[in-house]
Amino acid sequence: MGKIPRYLQIVQTIREKILRGEWSVGSKIPTQRELSEKFNVNRSTVITAIEILKSEGLLEGRIGSGVYIVNNKWSLLNAFSPPDWHDLSKWALHPPSDNTVQTINELETKKDIIQLCKGELGSDLFPHIEIAEAANRAFNKLPEFGYGDGYGDLELRKEMSIYLRKQGIHASPSNILIVSGALQAIKLISIGILKKGSTIFIENPSYIYSLNLFRSTGMNLKPISIDNDGLNIEELTQQKIINNLSALYVNPTYQNPTSTIMSLKKRKLLIETCQYYQLPIIEDDIYRDLWIDEPSPFPIKTFDKQGQVLYVGSFSKSIAAGLRIGWLVGPEDVVKRLSDLRMQIDYGSSYLPQVLVKELLSSGLYEDHLIRTRSFLKKKRDFLLTLLQTHLSEYATWTKPQGGFFIWVTFSKSINMRKLFKRSISKGVLINPGFIYNDNKSTIRLSFAYPNFEEMEKGILILKALIK
Ligand SMILES: Cc1ncc(COP(=O)(O)O)c(C=O)c1O
Repeated sequence: MGKIPRYLQIVQTIREKILRGEWSVGSKIPTQRELSEKFNVNRSTVITAIEILKSEGLLEGRIGSGVYIVNNKWSLLNAFSPPDWHDLSKWALHPPSDNTVQTINELETKKDIIQLCKGELGSDLFPHIEIAEAANRAFNKLPEFGYGDGYGDLELRKEMSIYLRKQGIHASPSNILIVSGALQAIKLISIGILKKGSTIFIENPSYIYSLNLFRSTGMNLKPISIDNDGLNIEELTQQKIINNLSALYVNPTYQNPTSTIMSLKKRKLLIETCQYYQLPIIEDDIYRDLWIDEPSPFPIKTFDKQGQVLYVGSFSKSIAAGLRIGWLVGPEDVVKRLSDLRMQIDYGSSYLPQVLVKELLSSGLYEDHLIRTRSFLKKKRDFLLTLLQTHLSEYATWTKPQGGFFIWVTFSKSINMRKLFKRSISKGVLINPGFIYNDNKSTIRLSFAYPNFEEMEKGILILKALIK
């Protein structure tokens, strides 16, 4: 391609993407700025290329919105018109994510932007050594592995049973379903247990709002506010629509996004209340192991004498999200039903991450890693709190999280959060605005787990300059 001018190379690349169907009719092409960065040319070269593609009838500009693919060669020739994937996907069960969530998901994998909000352990906390050692041990004694039975590896479930007992939960392997992350457990409950049209009570704000998880299966979300010590139970009991078509989803320990922790007293009251109303509880306890100041209170599940609680967790936050290993604990018939669903959907979780986790648990390596993680998380949390105190106390308030990853920051003045989100990206900092969690105040979720000390400092200074 040496002698071909740059603008023609861009025309050729975009044309091929459209003709091969990689970019479908109806979708928007990257912005001029993104294209000029990608091809390392100035904007005028990109504009020339786009004009040529417009003249060919492949692209069309829409004022204030961007440039869209309106045709491909086949549809221009009016022969063998391929399906309009963009249009078809509009009718699918799962609607697309909110645009801001899509942007966050895309930018979260980029190395050249400060991830001031990412809900994962950063490289300074990632258990490289423990994982390598566990892999070495586990992979040296691998049996043959084929399709499972949908429940997950029995050896891992036995190990999970021991692990859960330490949290106060008595569950035998037949009460445990291994899932590909907590998110899958919630999805399985949603499609396999709950009835369409059910009302799901959830905390407001809640992580669930950033997903279409319940909505895609026809559930109605009903927000319940949270106090300093968790869900407002009084508000829950005032709801007129608690019936056999409702359930409660709670994230009681270091709640995402607010880091609120439900007190032990409230946990007991909540289970009693839900038993009275016969309201099933989905307890998402994914941050439990990441306590900092003192051990987390017992799970709500501990006080469940009637099989009222479906208990969900995962190693995404405490080991690595890429393992995709989580669990669901519930009555045997629920677990059996969902294991059958797993067989229908994907034949169960991958075997290798399961044996890796089993080895991490049984060898004590997981516990060693947690001890190190807790003390380092404490340092990182305190560092971010000091930065906030020094630089943002004039503009915002927050509370000190007792564990987990997040600091929920509320600005004292009303701020256009969409603008702040976009402008902080342009300055190289990614933040999670509160509105993706259904919070309509001027709030952001910051993380002290992912960014390192230097990134936290740089990120907060940039944020301060923008807010000023
Ligand atoms: C409260 C909560 N539940 C579930 C998940 C998803 O976890 P997993 O990676 O195990 O699917 C997250 C991830 O951010 C979360 O914050």
